[in-house]
Amino acid sequence: MTIFVASLFLPYTVNFDGPPSWTASGPETPEIPKTGSSLPGNSTSSVTLSQTPKTDGPPSLSLFTPSSNAALSTVLTKTPDPLIQTPGATTDHEKIFRPHVERPLALSLPSHVKQKQEQGQKAVQQDVPPQTRPALSKDLRGISRHDIHSPGWGKSFVWNQPPSRAKSPPPSSILKHAAVEVKEKAAAIVHKAQKKSPRGAHRRSRTVSHDRRFSEFEYSVEKAVIGNGGLFNAIDAATEAGQLDEKLWVGTLGCPIDLLEDHMKENIAEKLENDYDSLAVYVSDSDLNGHYEHYCKTILWPVFHYQIPDHPKSKAYEDHSWVFYVKVNEAFADRIAKNYKKGDIIWIHDYHLLLVPGLLRQKLPEAEIGFFLHTAFPSSEIFRCLAVRSELLEGILGANLIGFQNDEYGHHFLQTCSRLLNVEATKHGVILENGRFVHVNTCPIGIDPKALDQQRRAPEVLEWVKTITEKYRGKRILVGRDKLDNIRGVRQKILSYELFLNKYPQYKDQVVLIQIATSSTEDPELSATVADIVTRVNSTHSTLAHQPLVFLKQDIEFAQYLALLTVAECLMITSLREGMNLTSHEFVMCQDGKFAEPKHGPLVLSEFTGSATVFGHEAILVNPWHYTQCAEAIKQALEMSPEERERRWTRLYDIVVNQNATTWYDRYMKALNHAWKEHSVREATSVPRLSVSSVKAKYQNASKRLFILDYEGTLASWGSPTDIILTTPKRAIDVLNDLIEDPKNIVYVMSSRMPEELERLFSPVSGLGIIAENGAYVRAPDMDEWEELANSENAKAWKKGVRSILQYYAERIEGSRIEERHSALVFDYAEADDVAGAFKQAGECANHINDACQGQNVCAVPIEDGLYISEIGINKGLAAQMISDSLEKQCRIRGEKMPEFLMVIGDSREDEYVFNWAHRLESAGTIKDVVTVTVGARNTEASATLTQGVTGKS
Ligand SMILES: *[C@@H]1O[C@H](CO)[C@@H](O)[C@H](O)[C@H]1NC(C)=O
Ligand SMILES: *[C@@H]1O[C@H](CO)[C@@H](O)[C@H](O)[C@H]1NC(C)=O
Ligand SMILES: *[C@@H]1O[C@H](CO)[C@@H](O)[C@H](O)[C@H]1NC(C)=O
Ligand SMILES: *[C@@H]1O[C@H](CO)[C@@H](O)[C@H](O)[C@H]1NC(C)=O
Ligand SMILES: *[C@@H]1O[C@H](CO)[C@@H](O)[C@H](O)[C@H]1NC(C)=O
Repeated sequence: MTIFVASLFLPYTVNFDGPPSWTASGPETPEIPKTGSSLPGNSTSSVTLSQTPKTDGPPSLSLFTPSSNAALSTVLTKTPDPLIQTPGATTDHEKIFRPHVERPLALSLPSHVKQKQEQGQKAVQQDVPPQTRPALSKDLRGISRHDIHSPGWGKSFVWNQPPSRAKSPPPSSILKHAAVEVKEKAAAIVHKAQKKSPRGAHRRSRTVSHDRRFSEFEYSVEKAVIGNGGLFNAIDAATEAGQLDEKLWVGTLGCPIDLLEDHMKENIAEKLENDYDSLAVYVSDSDLNGHYEHYCKTILWPVFHYQIPDHPKSKAYEDHSWVFYVKVNEAFADRIAKNYKKGDIIWIHDYHLLLVPGLLRQKLPEAEIGFFLHTAFPSSEIFRCLAVRSELLEGILGANLIGFQNDEYGHHFLQTCSRLLNVEATKHGVILENGRFVHVNTCPIGIDPKALDQQRRAPEVLEWVKTITEKYRGKRILVGRDKLDNIRGVRQKILSYELFLNKYPQYKDQVVLIQIATSSTEDPELSATVADIVTRVNSTHSTLAHQPLVFLKQDIEFAQYLALLTVAECLMITSLREGMNLTSHEFVMCQDGKFAEPKHGPLVLSEFTGSATVFGHEAILVNPWHYTQCAEAIKQALEMSPEERERRWTRLYDIVVNQNATTWYDRYMKALNHAWKEHSVREATSVPRLSVSSVKAKYQNASKRLFILDYEGTLASWGSPTDIILTTPKRAIDVLNDLIEDPKNIVYVMSSRMPEELERLFSPVSGLGIIAENGAYVRAPDMDEWEELANSENAKAWKKGVRSILQYYAERIEGSRIEERHSALVFDYAEADDVAGAFKQAGECANHINDACQGQNVCAVPIEDGLYISEIGINKGLAAQMISDSLEKQCRIRGEKMPEFLMVIGDSREDEYVFNWAHRLESAGTIKDVVTVTVGARNTEASATLTQGVTGKS
C-alpha cells in the first residue's frame, strides 16, 4: 500500500551543471520568435500588466513588479548574490546580516533517502561541482523552512536551472487567451522549423543552441527551496517515526522544464521515482506560470485570505488563468491515476490542487482520497465571489475527508457548501445529493521538534547567536520577519510599534524591533507607505547611539533566522489572516534558554491566525487592526514577570511538542481511514436488490415482528402539496391492515406530517403505531396518547424568529409557502414559478437560519423541494430508539421476547437515521433478523434496495 502525497512542488528539484551561460548574470531572454504581432521584451509585459479591466495601477499581488522591464529580468536571470540588500544600505545593521561564513554545502537528505542513495547511486554525488554552490545552500540541512510557502517560481537563486519559457503573465481577458494559444502553436511550429534548418532567425538560434546544450549537462537532485516546508517536514518526521512505509511524493520539479528534452525529462522522472520516492508531474512552463503565478497567487490566495474582491485593485474575478489551473490539476490527476493501485491512499495538499480530488473521484470511484487545506478558508460571503466557486467546491468534495487547520475554517467550508451547493451540511461533513457523505475535520499541523532541535545546534546558528547578541548587547530585542504584502500586517505592526514608542518613551533606549521584510513580490504602494512610517519612526526616536527600529528589506538565512528567534525577547506576528503559522512554534522551541538569555519570551500573536486557535491565551492575542491594543501588548510582553513568562512558555512548549508533525499525520490518517471505511460500507453499488425469498423465510420463522414503514414516497407517492386533503391510497391501507391482522406483527408508519393529520389519514387502520413530524411525536399502537419528543414550548420561541426569516424569502420566491408543524416549520417551493432559482435562494435561506439559530439548537435541512426546520437531534432515528426502548421495557415486565424480525422501509435522507438504528440493534443482538430497504436508487445505509418504487408489497 502506497500513500501518494501530492502538493504542487516536490520536496526535491534538480540542479544543472550548465550550460554556463545560465549562471552568468545579465538578462537572458529566451524570446519567442516574432510571429505576426507577438511583441518582444518589455512591451509584452507592459501590455499584459495593464489589461485588467478594473485595475488602473499595477496589480497589487503579482510576482511581476511594477517596472515591467525589471520583472522580466528577475524571472529570467540568476542573481549571483542570494541576499539582496536594501538599496543604498547605509547602516551597519544591514551588513551584519550578510552571510559571513562561506562553507561548502553540507546537504543532508533525510536518512531513508541517504540509505537508498548509498545502496545504488553514486552518480548523484559525483556530478555536483562543489564550487558552484552559493552560500544559501547551507540552509538546507535536515529540515525545510516552514515559511517557503509562496515564493516565485522559476527564478531560483540557488540552483542552476533552465529559465522559464512562459511569456510573462498570461493576458487577463478571456478572449486574449485564445489568441495566445494560437501564438504558442505558431511559435512551436517556428521552433521546429528552426531546429531543422540551420538558417533560422538570428534571435532564435541562440536559444536553440541552449536547448541542445542543456541536455548535455549532468544534473543532481537537491532538496527544494520552494514548496510546502511544513508538509515536507511532517511527512519526513512520520517516515522517520516509522508511521509510514511506502510513500510517493507527487508534484512538479519547481523549475521550468520547457527547455529540457524529452529524454532528459524521462531520465529525471526515473531517477526521482527510483531514488527519491517522487513522482514528477510535468506541465508546460506557460501552464504552470498561469496556474501558480496567476490563478493561485493573484486570485485564490487573496480570496482565501480575505482580500476582498471588490477592492478596486483586485483582479477581475472571471479570469482566463482558470484554464491553466484546470490543466495543471488535470495533469496531477492523470499522473496519480496512472500509478494508482487498489488499496493505495491518495492525499492531496493545499489550494493549488483543489480540483484534483474531484477529478480522481471520477477516475477512481472507490479510492481512498484525502484533502488537507494548509491555508485559511474564507467565509462564504467572500468565497461566493469566485466565478468558479461551484467547480472548486465540487473538486474538493471528491475527497473522503477534508482536513482544516482549525474549526473556524471547517465551519466556513461547511457553510459555503450548504449555501452554494445546497447540500446538507452537518457538524462532521457534507451529505451530497447522491447520498455520499464527505467528512470534514480539524487537524492542526505542527512542527518536528526533534529535527528543529538538531538544526538549532548547528555551528552557524550558534555563531549567529553570538554575533547578534554582541551587536545588540543591553537591548531588548523584538523580532518580526514577514513578507511585505497586504496579508502579513507589517504596516500595522510598525504603526503599533510607533504608538508604543510615543506612549512609553521610557523604553526608547532599551528596545529594538528588528523587522525583516522579505519580498519578492513587491507591492510598491505598500512599500512606500511602510518606508514612510519607518523613516518617521527613525527620525523621531533614533539617537546617535541607538536606533529602536531596524527595518531590513532583505531576507536572511535560515541560520540567522533561528539565531534571531533564540535571542529575541518577543516575537510579534500581526498577520491579518493566516492558515497555520509555524513560525510561532519555532519561536517557542528556540526560547528554552539553552543557548541564550533571556528565555521564555512571550509571543504576541494576531487572533486571525490558525496558530491563535492552537495557542489560545497562552500567547498574547491581539487584533492587528487595533493599534492601541498591539502597543499595550508590546508593553505587557516587556513587563511580564519571569514567573508568568515561564508559566506561559511552559504551556506553549507543551502544545508545540505534543501537537507535533507526527501526531498530525497520525490523526489525519486515522480519520481518513475511518471516513473511507464508512464510505465503502455505504457504497450504493454494494446495496443488493431485496431478496424476497430470504425475507419470506425470516418472516415466517419469527414469532414476533416489528415493521417501520415510511409514508411519503414509500407507501404513498409524494402528494401534491396543494392537496390539503391528502388521501391514502386504498392499496396502502389494505397492506397495513393485512399486516396488523397478524397478531405477531407490530407496525409503525413514519411521516413528516402532523399528528392530527395522520390520525385522520389512518383512521381506517386500527392498531397502527405512528411517528409524526419526522420523529417529534410518537403514538404507540392501540394508544390514544401522543408521546412528545420535541419541546413544543421551546419551539414556540424559536419559530417566531425563524418564521420572520422564512417570510422574507417566501415573499421573494413566487409560489413558495410556509407550512406549520407543531415542532417544526417547513418551507415549500415545489410550486414555485422558478424552482431552480428557488433552490438557490433556499440554500441561502438555510444558511441564514443555521447561522442565526445555532444557539437555539435549531437547524434547517434541505428536503425534496423545500427546507425542514426543526430542533437538532429530533429525528426519526430518535423516535425509533424510543420505540425499541419502551418495547424492551414492556417485554421485560411481561416476560415476553423481543421481536425477532425487524423491517424498515424508507426512501429519504431522514430514513437513514432509522436504518442506522436498526443496524445497531442487529449488531447488538437485540433483534436477530433485520431487513432494511430503500426505495429508489439512492446511496444509502440500507441493506437492500427496491428499485421498482412505491407500494408494491405483499
Ligand atoms: C522598454 O524599455 C526601454 C528601456 O528600458 C524603455 O525606454 C521603454 O520606454 C520601455 N517600453 C515600454 C513600452 O515600457
Ligand atoms: C509565518 O509568519 C511569518 C512571520 O509573520 C512569515 O514570514 C511566514 O512567511 C509565515 N509562514 C507561512 C507558511 O505563511
Ligand atoms: C535612522 O536614523 C539614524 C540616526 O539618525 C540614521 O543613521 C539612519 O540612516 C536612519 N535610517 C533610516 C532607514 O532612515
Ligand atoms: C509528538 O507528540 C506525541 C504525543 O502527542 C509524543 O508522544 C511524541 O513524543 C512527540 N514527538 C516528538 C518528536 O516530540
Ligand atoms: C428458523 O429458525 C430455526 C430455529 O430457530 C433456525 O435453525 C433456522 O435457521 C431459521 N431459519 C431462518 C431462515 O432464519
